[in-house]
Amino acid sequence: MKERILEEIGKVNDLKASEINDVENIRIQYLGKKGLLNDLFLEFKAAPSQEKKEIGLLLNELKIAVQDKIEALREAVVSEEESGVEKDDLTKPSTEFTLGSRHPLSIVRNEIIEIFSKVGYVVEEGPEIEDDWHVFSSLNFPPEHPARDMQDTFFVENREDGNNAVLRTHTSSVQVRVMETQKPPIRIIAPGRVFRNEAISARAHCIFHQIEGLYIDKNVSFADLKQNLLYFAKEMFGESTKIRLRPSYFPFTEPSAEMDISCNLCGGKGCNVCKQTGWLEIMGCGMVDPNVLEANGIDSKEYSGFAFGMGIERITMLKYNVKDLRLYFENDMRFLKQFTSVY
Ligand code: DAH
Repeated sequence: MKERILEEIGKVNDLKASEINDVENIRIQYLGKKGLLNDLFLEFKAAPSQEKKEIGLLLNELKIAVQDKIEALREAVVSEEESGVEKDDLTKPSTEFTLGSRHPLSIVRNEIIEIFSKVGYVVEEGPEIEDDWHVFSSLNFPPEHPARDMQDTFFVENREDGNNAVLRTHTSSVQVRVMETQKPPIRIIAPGRVFRNEAISARAHCIFHQIEGLYIDKNVSFADLKQNLLYFAKEMFGESTKIRLRPSYFPFTEPSAEMDISCNLCGGKGCNVCKQTGWLEIMGCGMVDPNVLEANGIDSKEYSGFAFGMGIERITMLKYNVKDLRLYFENDMRFLKQFTSVY
C-alpha cells in the first residue's frame, strides 16, 4: 500500500501539480480528517491485539512517508513558483493600468488658462476669505449701493472699521489685489472659488468657480476688449463661434457689457439650451471704471483697461452639455469618468 500511495503522489508531481492548492488537495485526500490514513487508523482499532504492535509500526511508517512525500511536493511547487520559470509568460500583455481623470471644472479651467496664456495673460490668485474693501468698496460699490444686494454675501466677521471679513462673492477682488501690488502694464487672469448665499438647485450653488481677467495699459480700448474676447470664444467653442455684446451694468466697469456667444449646440438656429434665441450668455465685462483705477493708485488719465469675469461651471455646462450644476459637486464616479483630457 505504501509503495502504491507514494507512486500515486509522485504521479501528481509529474503531472505538474504547479498550484499550491493542488498540493493541499492531495494532503486532504491522504492525511485529512476523512482521508485514507485516518480510515486506516480507524480500522486499526479493530485489529486483533496480538497484531496491533506490528500493524501500528507499519501504519506510522506509512504516515511519515506520506507526510514527507507531500512536504517535498509542496517545496517543489513553492520554489517553482518563486523562480517563476514555469508560470510567467513574459510575452503576455500586462494587466490594464487604469488612470483617474481630471474633474471637468479643472479641465475647463486649465483650458481657459491655456487660451489666455497664449496671448500673454499670467495667472494670479487671491484669498477666498476677503474683506469688504477688496470685494466691494474699492470696486466702486458705495456703502448703501443696491448693487451689494446683487450678491448674497456670506459674512465671516463684522469689524469696527466696517471693513468686514467676507467670503469673496466674485474673483473681481483679485483685480484689486493685483492693482495694489503691480504697476501697469497688467495682464492677468485669476481663477478661483467664490461663495454666495444661494439656495442650491440645478442652476445655482453656494460655491462655484470664476475666472477673472484684467488688462491695464496705455491706450487700451473697448475694441481691444472685443478682440480678446472674440479670440477666447473661438478658441474655446470653435472657429465659427460669433460673439455679441449687450449693454449691462457692473459698478466696477463703465461701460459694462454682457457677452453672448452663438449657441454651439444648434449653431445659432435656436434650441432648448439657448431657449430658441441662438445665443448663450457667458460672461460680464467692461472698461475698468476710472474710480476703480484711482482707488487703487493707478492714474486714470494715463492708463485705461478692461476686465471680464466668467463662471467656470457655466462654460463647462455649455461645453459638455451638463444640465445640472449639482453634478459637479457630488463626486459620482459615473459622471466624473466621462471626462478625459490632455489638460
Ligand atoms: N464680478 C462679476 C460677477 O461676479 C462678473 C464680472 C463682470 C467681472 C464684469 C468683471 C467684469 O471683471 O468686468 O458677476
